[in-house]
Amino acid sequence: MRSLTDSWNLGGHRIPNRVLLAPLAGIGNWFVRLQARRHGAGLAFSEMVSSFGLKYGDRRTLSEFLRIHPDEHPVAIQLFGHDPEVMGVAAEIAAEHGADLIDINMGCPVRKVCKTGAGASLLDDPDRAVALARAARAGSGLPVTVKLRSGQRPGERTGLELARRLVHDAGVAAISIHPRHASQQHKGDPDYQLAAELVDSIGVPVIVSGGLSSDDRAIEAFERTGADAVMLARGSLGNPWRFERLLGLRDGEPAREEVVQELRWVIACAEEHLGTERAGRYLRKFYPWYAETLGLRRREGEPLLTARDTAAAGAFLDVLLQQPAAPVRT
Ligand SMILES: Cc1cc2nc3c(=O)[nH]c(=O)nc-3n(C[C@H](O)[C@H](O)[C@H](O)COP(=O)(O)O)c2cc1C
Repeated sequence: MRSLTDSWNLGGHRIPNRVLLAPLAGIGNWFVRLQARRHGAGLAFSEMVSSFGLKYGDRRTLSEFLRIHPDEHPVAIQLFGHDPEVMGVAAEIAAEHGADLIDINMGCPVRKVCKTGAGASLLDDPDRAVALARAARAGSGLPVTVKLRSGQRPGERTGLELARRLVHDAGVAAISIHPRHASQQHKGDPDYQLAAELVDSIGVPVIVSGGLSSDDRAIEAFERTGADAVMLARGSLGNPWRFERLLGLRDGEPAREEVVQELRWVIACAEEHLGTERAGRYLRKFYPWYAETLGLRRREGEPLLTARDTAAAGAFLDVLLQQPAAPVRT
């Protein structure tokens, strides 16, 4: 019987366990990935990065999106785009910046992405999808993986057919499947049966994503699908301790002090990465996740949720530590 703690092979890389961090746009930068690795994740995928942005981007775009910390290897950089030539160049640039694996996004349902022919629209354009994966392999010389959906619309299974072609015709090393249809965006129950079918028929590792909002759900998805690994997304936001619990490295909830210390680390990394001012704006989306993990009621967490800058957030954390600790919710 396989366990989440077993190591496995992904495109020649030994991955120490089967609990991974999913790609998360606008979130999955080097320090969020590093945080996941510090808490045990076997591998982290980057936020999706535009292949056009890399080919034509300025130095800052490159250094921010492709920044990789020395302690996060192996790391997968996820690219999106619709032009095989541009994809090949972008994958080469990602490899030069230290990527160990290239992942291609064929599941993003956002209109702005799909209308260019990228993301989930590739489910209906398998020839282009295969050309993109081939170009990424040739350009980077790295193993290429693809993350996709079951299909565009309910009832469709184009994702399964495309996955098979990507493996046979483009030599893709693994498939991540988010078994919701693109039209469902991120809502509704994932179809784990469909993911199980893919596992049984594909011959390369399959990673399952979707609906992994609790420890039990992650274990259930792993067992029901027979997938090689699970990929935590929203369930890990502000809660990297979930990796540790799933890997048997800890029992129960983090203490208030631990959560505060973790958020301070995140703030320090963001300030170093973006400068204090940009970090203050960037982190506003992070605070509700940590407020929830801290078990703060809306009124209690208000100063954090409305912090104008990192100094205000830090001051709130100082005050919080002086109050008697309430039980932490995860
Ligand atoms: C805010 C947000 C950003 C996301 N960004 C990406 C992305 O850049 N690339 C990608 O392949 N999937 C992306 N996803 C999808 C997740 O990787 C994951 O498949 C999805 O959230 C389902 O998992 P969950 O239900 O456990 O959250 C994103 C999801 C969310 C909520």
